Amino acid sequence: MGTYLKLARRALETETPVMVQIQELIREAKDAISLAQGVVYWQPPERALEKVKEAVWQPAISRYGADEGIPELREALIKKLCCENNLHKSSVMVTAGANQAFVNLVLTLCDAGDSVVMFAPYYFNSYMSFQMTGVTDILVGPGNPKTLQPDADWLEKTLSERKPVPKLVTVVNPGNPSGTYIPEPLLKRISDLCKNFGSWLVVDNTYEYFMYDGLKHTCIEGDHIVNLFSFSKAYGMMGWRVGYIAYPSEVEGLGAQLLKVQDNIPICASIIGQRLALHSLEEGLEWIKIRVKDLVKNRNLLREALLPLGEDAVKGGEGAIYLWAKLPDKYSDDFEVVRWLVRTHGVVVIPGCASGGPGYIRISFGGLKEADCEVAAGRLKRGLEELVRDGMV
Ligand SMILES: Cc1ncc(COP(=O)(O)O)c(C=O)c1O
Repeated sequence: MGTYLKLARRALETETPVMVQIQELIREAKDAISLAQGVVYWQPPERALEKVKEAVWQPAISRYGADEGIPELREALIKKLCCENNLHKSSVMVTAGANQAFVNLVLTLCDAGDSVVMFAPYYFNSYMSFQMTGVTDILVGPGNPKTLQPDADWLEKTLSERKPVPKLVTVVNPGNPSGTYIPEPLLKRISDLCKNFGSWLVVDNTYEYFMYDGLKHTCIEGDHIVNLFSFSKAYGMMGWRVGYIAYPSEVEGLGAQLLKVQDNIPICASIIGQRLALHSLEEGLEWIKIRVKDLVKNRNLLREALLPLGEDAVKGGEGAIYLWAKLPDKYSDDFEVVRWLVRTHGVVVIPGCASGGPGYIRISFGGLKEADCEVAAGRLKRGLEELVRDGMV
């Protein structure tokens, strides 16, 4: 008790990371299969790994690099942003993953006490980034009950009524944990609202390549928009920690302020990780597309496994690597259901309460190869059938 008094309220009042709690559950359970963590099962491109293996002896790999990223990677990213994302006026800062990119942005764009906007269900780490930087006035807007897309009417009302106007609005496209994407007209409307009311719009595009059923991911740019990206999922580079910020070059001083934060947290993203990112980009889009296309099989297996909850209960899966499912009404304590599923059926999912969605669960379909996913889907289905039929016995 005494020690707690000596710890910062900023940290104490930040949620406990759900993944840490889930990892504990996995360690305690014997032979549990995880549909919990937002990961992919593949490793980075083989040729890229071979190239960095050879590069490790170069002295430059062990030195600090430019804070904003190694020039070759930034140059390649600027080309990629133009060709793939239709972003032509962006500068790039390479970070130690998209999570660090988000923290850089919150520290650069927000002051403690500012209000900010997110939409439920939200990405838990973004929520925590606000909390731990003192941005505790977090307004959580609703998603459309059918599509889970951000409710732009609510945003318009909130931005017009709230004084001072919220400093920043953030969306994830396609979404974690919703697994749904934001169509271009809706993204444009959100952007126009932010521009008109003077709020920043931060768009997390971590899952830009993870789109299914012919849907297309889009980015938009403006002097009020910052786009975030990650190498973690597309290239199976979770542990290498490389992401980047595409910020509007025309905003005076923004790059300089971002650099202050960068210089005090990682100094620079790991150089060997950046080199791997560069060589992974050289593989081209087809490398990612083949792998993403294959995930549809996992998604379908898990959609089928969730059927005991009822067809209307299951949303998402049109983008990212997630399905989002509503538990029967009496199970508002979703964490209890998650613990029960681990204990009695050996399958792990994420409780919706971690994303502002109590009574729901998030299921990830990226982390397992098809054969393992089939086993996990079988366990999940049996667990949910029992839950609906007999309860948590
Ligand atoms: C929406 C979203 N943003 C950021 C991240 C973190 O990405 P990175 O590994 O690049 O930090 C994740 C990881 O799950 C994510 O789902």
